[in-house]
Amino acid sequence: MAVDLLLGLQWGDEGKGKIVDVLTSKYDIIARFQGGPNAGHTLVFNGRKHVLHTIPSGIFHDDTINLVGNGVVIDPVIFKKELDKLDEQDVDYKKSLLISRKAHIILPTHRLLDAASETAKGKAKIGSTLKGIGPTYMDKTGRNGIRVGDIELADWKTKYRALANKHQAMIDFYNVDIQYDLEELEAEFFEAIETLKSLQFIDSEEYVHQAQKAGKSILAEGAQGSLLDIDFGTYPYVTSSNTTAAGACTGLGVAPNSIGKVYGIFKAYTTRVGSGPFPTELFDADGETMGRVGHEFGATTGRPRRCGWLDLVALRYACQVNGVTELIMMKGDVLSGFKTLKVCTSYKYKGEDISHLPYNIEEQNVTPVYTELKGWDADLTGMTEASQLPAALNDYVTFLEDQLNIPITVVSVGPDRKQTIVRS
Ligand code: IMP
Repeated sequence: MAVDLLLGLQWGDEGKGKIVDVLTSKYDIIARFQGGPNAGHTLVFNGRKHVLHTIPSGIFHDDTINLVGNGVVIDPVIFKKELDKLDEQDVDYKKSLLISRKAHIILPTHRLLDAASETAKGKAKIGSTLKGIGPTYMDKTGRNGIRVGDIELADWKTKYRALANKHQAMIDFYNVDIQYDLEELEAEFFEAIETLKSLQFIDSEEYVHQAQKAGKSILAEGAQGSLLDIDFGTYPYVTSSNTTAAGACTGLGVAPNSIGKVYGIFKAYTTRVGSGPFPTELFDADGETMGRVGHEFGATTGRPRRCGWLDLVALRYACQVNGVTELIMMKGDVLSGFKTLKVCTSYKYKGEDISHLPYNIEEQNVTPVYTELKGWDADLTGMTEASQLPAALNDYVTFLEDQLNIPITVVSVGPDRKQTIVRS
């Protein structure tokens, strides 16, 4: 059976957690394939908010298997905290949570290296979440990393010590003021490793293959957004993994010809957290309104998100790179009350009007060209049927569908599971 994908099409924080949770009842398995605790997937149901970082968003459904794939990087300390929260809510994850032996482990020194590297960069910093993501993927591609399967081996602590010592030398080399107590960090880390060991480790590519053969339905849950992809994002202001569709193949061992639907999620406007170019960014009252009404603060770091108009040049690019088959528009409710809405349909680039995303999209290179659309002023948050949506919102959606040539099948009008409108 084909594996469906669900991916963020912007700079992350599109609302993937909510939609995975909504879609979970249709799937037997939810699988994360890249990223790690830099992600913050928020789910709201029964009046309660839940934030997941590494654990797939299907975990609250009793009959669903949740797989952490080989492409994910796991911080045992953060993972343990997520498990503690699930314990508090009596979520029985022991049978339903599976971890790939090939997933890499974030060490305490990876986090410290992240901080040292960012501090040393000064003004040029990436704006990393400082969860150790970059250094861990560097050790993976440098063939020095420690994998989940390693912690089952007798001598893994020797490997750990050698790597941690090397990291300490690197931190010293940066020559920046980073305060830390490694002994304390390691005590917490090794305790969390024991918790991790109590979970089920699997050869996940084989598991996924057998599940496909047995006709199980699988949804691969992306993290971050396409514009943060290490290859196709706004490099170097990106994360360190492939957040796009191809990442699901390498991060789970799924063959390209067995990808089915590709759900692409986007907000009705655009946000970005951290540094890097953002052509449609707003520095005025409109941007402030989006941030305030949309509660645009990072689920992982609490940092305020930068806000701006929807950028169709970037969105078209993301649809193309991912092969999106269906679009899901989030946070339509946040735009209620704007008299006029702007949508960027092309860029002025070196004196020319272009509609593709060029190599450099910094402010000095591109100027967004906008189309204006009529806004709507209605409280959408209680709406449940497509027929209730205001005409101007339908026009907005139809305009986007025409521009992107892909159907928008779901419009989300609030954070709760129930605030999800399916369009036929
Ligand atoms: P890192 O992946 O933590 O190193 O962060 C690299 C860049 O990606 C920074 O600009 C972060 O703000 C951004 N980033 C990483 N993860 C997320 C996410 O889940 N949502 C939004 N931005 C993210």
